[in-house]
Amino acid sequence: MRIGICTGGGDCPGLNAVIRALVKSAVGTHHWEAVGIENSLSGLMQRPVRSRPLSLHDVTPILERGGTILGSSSRAQIERDPNSIDKAVEGYRTLGLDALVVVGGEGTQKLASKLIEHGLNIIGIPKTIDNDLPGTEQTVGFSTAVDVASDAIGRLQSTAESHDRIMVLEVMGRDSGYIALHAGMASGANVILLPEIPFSFDAICQKIEERRQLGRLFSVVVCAEGAFERGSAPIFKQMDRQEGPRLGGIGQYIAHELQKRTQMETRVTVLGHIQRGGSPNAQDRVLGTLFASRAIALLQKQAFGRFVVLKDGRIDDLSYRDIPTGERKRMSLESDLVKSAEDIGICLGRKTPFSAL
Ligand code: F6P
Repeated sequence: MRIGICTGGGDCPGLNAVIRALVKSAVGTHHWEAVGIENSLSGLMQRPVRSRPLSLHDVTPILERGGTILGSSSRAQIERDPNSIDKAVEGYRTLGLDALVVVGGEGTQKLASKLIEHGLNIIGIPKTIDNDLPGTEQTVGFSTAVDVASDAIGRLQSTAESHDRIMVLEVMGRDSGYIALHAGMASGANVILLPEIPFSFDAICQKIEERRQLGRLFSVVVCAEGAFERGSAPIFKQMDRQEGPRLGGIGQYIAHELQKRTQMETRVTVLGHIQRGGSPNAQDRVLGTLFASRAIALLQKQAFGRFVVLKDGRIDDLSYRDIPTGERKRMSLESDLVKSAEDIGICLGRKTPFSAL
């Protein structure tokens, strides 16, 4: 068996753990050949095809390394070429691959579905710090991003307290609040604003005022980049003609409004790509390895067109036909996380019957 491996979309911690486990199992255990495709499907589209053989030696020192040794490109970049899929199919055939493992988020998996329609043997592995891929409970990269954001919140808390300030932290996540809510809960944020719950400044200010009356003269507000005020719309920081709109700027807006409304000194931090870079935590290394093992098991059975997922806490796989491509998973307002956050007095940008600490 000769398998290709590619990583697509925004990078995240844990991609190299996936590549390493795929190669160790494919080459080391099963004596197959593994070929790394460079820069996602862009590598298959170029002539000559941009690829390189992957040996055990190539993947020995990469478990803890951030990013992806294979490089990446986004769906938007790939689709700039109107013949992208045809070229990628031709590239796959030129390399003589028996199958291709596509490690990617929503955009890349959509491209993978098209490759399946063109008759290619594909196995998908979910990754993205946003955790917004439908079909899986968790994606590679999410856990590390939560750790990084939690650490940032803790650091902001201590300086907020020293100066009696409001600190606003904007985190990533596109239209889903997974990073914001998990990191905020893990580090004791006072207000967490999610794209799933349009917020009101009245609710946030009430929370800050309650804290002030209790002698807590500082507050930490975490907002997802896709959060927005009730009756309003998400904020985009730029309109790039090639890449499309990009979320960003809500943190600045919230900080400005809170300073005006509370008369408290307010500062804003945008965490940005720090959440995406650097070494994966233990959970992402393990999850990436488990996903890779299932991918190899599917390849062994020649069960192609399958997408590896975490379901009910266990590794599983779905047919690509059963993943709602084009959709993003969002936090359920019925989730234990949302209920627990409000139960302990965290303000999620709306008024609740609970009083706060
Ligand atoms: O999807 C991952 C993600 O990091 C989002 O959270 C964020 O909105 C986006 O990618 C940033 O993309 P780029 O790296 O193109 O700026």
